[in-house]
Order: sequence, then structure tokens, then C-alpha cells
Amino acid sequence: MKDIKRATVAEIMRDPAKYTGSEVDVKGWVRTRRGNKNVQFVALNDGSTIKNLQIVFDLSKFSDEDLKRVTTGSSIHVQGELVASQGKGQSVEVQAGELEIYGTANPDEYPLQKKGHTMEFLREKAHLRPRTNTFGAVLRIRHAMAYAIHKFFNDKGFFYFHTPLITASDCEGAGAQFVATTLDIENPPRTEDGKVDYSKDFFGKQACLTVSGQLEGELGATALGCIYTFGPTFRAENSNTPRHLSEFWMIEPEMAFYEIADNMDLAEEFIKYCIQYALDNCMDDIEFLSEHFDKELVERLRFVVDNDFVRLPYTEGIRILEEAVKSGRKFEFPVYWGVDLASEHERYLVEEHFHKPVILTDYPKEIKAFYMKLNDDGKTVRAMDVLFPKIGEIIGGSQREENYDKLKARIDEQGLTGMDWYLDTRRFGTVPHSGFGLGFERLLLFVTGMQNIRDVIPFPRYPGNCEF
Ligand code: 4AD
Ligand code: MG
Repeated sequence: MKDIKRATVAEIMRDPAKYTGSEVDVKGWVRTRRGNKNVQFVALNDGSTIKNLQIVFDLSKFSDEDLKRVTTGSSIHVQGELVASQGKGQSVEVQAGELEIYGTANPDEYPLQKKGHTMEFLREKAHLRPRTNTFGAVLRIRHAMAYAIHKFFNDKGFFYFHTPLITASDCEGAGAQFVATTLDIENPPRTEDGKVDYSKDFFGKQACLTVSGQLEGELGATALGCIYTFGPTFRAENSNTPRHLSEFWMIEPEMAFYEIADNMDLAEEFIKYCIQYALDNCMDDIEFLSEHFDKELVERLRFVVDNDFVRLPYTEGIRILEEAVKSGRKFEFPVYWGVDLASEHERYLVEEHFHKPVILTDYPKEIKAFYMKLNDDGKTVRAMDVLFPKIGEIIGGSQREENYDKLKARIDEQGLTGMDWYLDTRRFGTVPHSGFGLGFERLLLFVTGMQNIRDVIPFPRYPGNCEF
């Protein structure tokens, strides 16, 4: 092999003219090989782009023996001249001069032979599925979205604030937490009344994996002004739906001096920014996914960017749903004031009634978390959920209760303990403040058009599954 600097397929495809006529050095995995006795064509992919680079092997230069081992899934290193392609489907190709085979992939054993595997099959082969076109596209978009999120907040002067993954508090108060313990679970120490004695545990108290970084995020916001978190969260709910994971990533901005309307403006601007970023930077991958899974994908993305979100109080939303029921629309779950909306209700409002994303506000306090600011009616709280087509709830947030006495009362009502540190933000220099949480994988569901949340994260965790 000659001493030539390696180029990725993405680099070559971005500026083919720069490389045409000169020798290139490329490395990657073989997607397919086809041809005849005289010439063989290899589609090479190195993960840098959805696009394959065509490598042409002239069989007067390469032996059958060599090429026999160049099968789907094998990894190779090629040097040769980049030339304008004669054939259809690609603008340039490499005329192979040198070939090195790094690793073969026995065709009788390598599972990703043919195209068009089902998502279910690929989920069973989750350790190899990043090598498929579909997952390559999804994972590149996932990266781009993470970058866009950091860029959005950084450019706005928000600070990335790291909240703990192991915590002693339960933010959402739903009790759906995984316990983090080093106690001998076969034979744990017990208190006199027979309960597990967590004072003997690793941290000297019961600790769990976090369901949200919000409460700690509020400590950051009431010092730094505007912060955001971006990290994994864990929920031990037994939800086997295409929209729930047991481990998912969440982005939680928290802003001092923001009221609910400011919070809604930010949420709308933020999500539109992310989607516009995908349209501007991920079109190759989006077009691939659109072509294979969801013909309306691009249109749907543009639609969200181009339209104002509807802002609607919960009570109005219920009225619209009740009207729909009266005129014969059937729902699986009942509709009445006070009910926690199901995804079918959310999607009705978005997809059938308004045909636009909806920000639903002012929910009954009983169905929302303790930290939300109570409205003057004493019945509803300043919550806001952003509802999206195909997804339902994509963002959940609220203005926070900044009044010490009201917050203390809600904490006591719910029997929460150990919250003095949180209450201190309201005891010392309390300010109106707001925030929200965007489910990263729900955003990715929307942007990629994938149907199941298990297919937009490399290693999904859900009830009954913890592979790798
Ligand atoms: O509505 P949630 O539970 O809100 C909170 O956790 C707040 N502490 C956020 C805040 O105000 N800082 O969750 C926020 C979002 C949901 O809207 C949804 O997109 C996503 O997180 N989410 C899930 N995504 C995947 N799997 C699950 N099990 C999810 N649960 C919530
Ligand atoms: Mg929610």
C-alpha cells in the first residue's frame, strides 16, 4: 500500500472534484458485490454518510480468490484512482489498484445479508444493526440533533448544567424509580419494624436512578439564570408502548424569571430550531428514511417549522374532545374534565382537530407534579405539554411554584420528605421561573419518521430487555 492519507466516503462525496483524477485511500465495509468475469463492483460504506462509494475491480488485476472473500459485511482497504463513473447511480468511482482485506464475514453466518429486514428482526440483532442503512441514518441524525441542541442553548447564553444520575429525590413523584443499592438483596439488613435498613446502604440512605434532573436544575437556574441539562433518565414504569423507554435521554432547560408564556415561546422556538437543523444538515439521511418508511416525512417536518403552535387551555381541550365524542368519535379511554389525557386524545387534537402542534396548558393540579405553580382558580396548575402529530406528548413542562408556603403545602400533601434543600430556593431570593423537558427519543421519532422508539436509540431498554 502507498502512503496516501485516508479519505472518508463523506469527504469524497462532499467534494468529488477535489479528488477526481488522483489516487484515494478508502476503508470501510462491503455492502454488496456484483459483476461478471471481467469486472466486479463493490458498494463500500464507512458509516460517514448514507452514500456508498463504488469500487471497481478489474479482474485482470485481481484474482478470483481475493474477491471471493470480499463479501457483504467484510471490511476492506482500497487504494486507487477516483474517476468519473460511467454507470448510473453514482457520479464517481474508485478504480481499485490495491486491496487489503481486514476481516471477512462468512456469508452463511453474517445476519445482515439481504436488504429489507424487518425492524423486529433488526431489534434482535441490535448489536449489528448500526451497520444497516436505516440505523446508520438514524444514528447520524441522533448525533446531529444532540449537537443542534447544545448549539441552540449555547448560542442563547444557557449553561449546560450536570445533574446527578444517582439521586435521593423523586422529581415526578410517580415512584417509578430504579433503586441503586449495594445491599445484599437476598438478605438485606432490617430495621426493628422489619423494613430494609437503607441507612446501612452505600450512601447511608436509599438512592435511586434519576427520573429527571429538574429539581437539581432549578438549583442551577436560580444561580446561573438559564441552564439546561441533557442526560439519561430512568423510569421503571411497565410501559410497553412504541413511545416509552425505561432509559431515555431528556433535555431540561430551566430559566429564572421566565413565566409560562416565555416558557412556551422557548419550547416552540427550540423544537423548530432542531427540526430546521435536521432539514439543513441531515437531508441525505432524511430522504433515505422518507423513501423507505414515510413518504410524508419531509412535508411533516416543514409543516412544523412553518406553522405556529396552537396554545390551548386543558379545559378547552376537554370541551373539544367531548364535542367529538358527542358527534360520534370513538375513543378507547373516557374523556371528562380531570382525566389524564391518553395519547389518542392528544393526537385527536393535533391531527384531526387543529392539524397543528398544540401546547396544552393549565391542567388540573391532581394529574400534575407537585412543583407546578397553582393558578388563581385553585384547581389548575401552570403546566404546558407540547403535543405533536404521530407522537402525542413530546415536551412536558411548567412554570414552577415559587411561593414557599404553597409549595410546602403541596409537598406535605404528597408526603414527600427530604426536600428542604429544594425549598431553600423559595426561602432565599425566590423568583418566578419555568422549564420543560424534551424527550430526546420522541424528538428523534418525529425527525426520522421511525415508528418505534426502540429504533431511535442504539441500545434500547424496556421491560424484559436489557441486552449488552
Ligand atoms: O413529562 P415528563 O415526565 O416531565 C418531566 O420529567 C419534567 N421534570 C420536565 C421538566 O419540566 N423539566 O417528561 C418530559 C418528556 C415527555 O414529554 C416525553 O417526551 C419524555 O420526556 N418522556 C419519555 N420518553 C421516552 N420514554 C419514556 N418513558 C418517557 N417519559 C417521558
Ligand atoms: Mg409529561
